[in-house]
Amino acid sequence: MTKYALVTGANKGIGYEVVRQLAERGYDVFLGARNEEFGQKAVDSLGLSNVTFVQLDITDSQSIQESVRTIEGITEHLDLLINNAGIALDFNIQPSEVKVEMLRDIFDVNFFGTFQMMQAYLPLLKKAEGSKMVNVTTDMASQTMFANGDVHPLNVLGYNSSKTAVNSLTLSFSKELGSEGPEVMGVTPGFTSTELNGNAPGGKTTAQGAEVIVKYALSETNYHGKILNNDGIIPW
Ligand SMILES: NC(=O)c1ccc[n+]([C@@H]2O[C@H](COP(=O)([O-])OP(=O)(O)OC[C@H]3O[C@@H](n4cnc5c(N)ncnc54)[C@H](OP(=O)(O)O)[C@@H]3O)[C@@H](O)[C@H]2O)c1
Repeated sequence: MTKYALVTGANKGIGYEVVRQLAERGYDVFLGARNEEFGQKAVDSLGLSNVTFVQLDITDSQSIQESVRTIEGITEHLDLLINNAGIALDFNIQPSEVKVEMLRDIFDVNFFGTFQMMQAYLPLLKKAEGSKMVNVTTDMASQTMFANGDVHPLNVLGYNSSKTAVNSLTLSFSKELGSEGPEVMGVTPGFTSTELNGNAPGGKTTAQGAEVIVKYALSETNYHGKILNNDGIIPW
């Protein structure tokens, strides 16, 4: 049976490479992008016949519902949902200086957007045996690692706390779903040079970042209710 995957925020960066790697492993992949032109260009540049563009702005309920209908027109099940879309607006702004409007904008995408995607796609995921939902997170969102100084010391309140809230989504949905499936996990690609961080030097390539996500998405080991980096399970 054909395996289907959906990746959000996949017109560039890590998501684009996740699409490529899943498609190369035989998945039929829906490349989600909020901008139709950029999304279609990304599909064209991949040049893979098993990749299809889906318009998807994760802050827009209507766009999400339309994407569900589009995908339901093609398949009755979804094997993988990679909630990759994310923004970071407050790098270089101290917690005491960040504006509440900026915090709301970050949470709108990273937390509320991911939440709406999880709810909207559960029915399609439940129709596939062994399906998985991967919420892309960061190790800086681990309160334990941040408190202990085990991560980059960037004190980015908006981005980090929105991803901590995403980790809560991972845990809460995993508790509700129990062993029934889909498997829900959080994965951090690790520091990767992308537009998100102004292409900061010294990070992984997008292909290397994507490999971490794909490794867990395709793993035979069950990581339900866990958050992970390349080396394994990390603390909350
Ligand atoms: N880079 C790192 O070091 C790093 C480390 C840990 C975790 N992560 C996480 O990895 C994920 C991918 O980030 P990246 O580094 O590849 O960043 P990126 O290159 O900036 O890509 C982010 C993607 O998310 C999309 N997006 C933003 N808002 C959206 C919305 N409302 N609806 C749909 N798509 C939206 C962007 O679309 P547009 O092009 O239209 O803006 C873009 O395709 C993020 O969740 C990020 O937090 C990154």
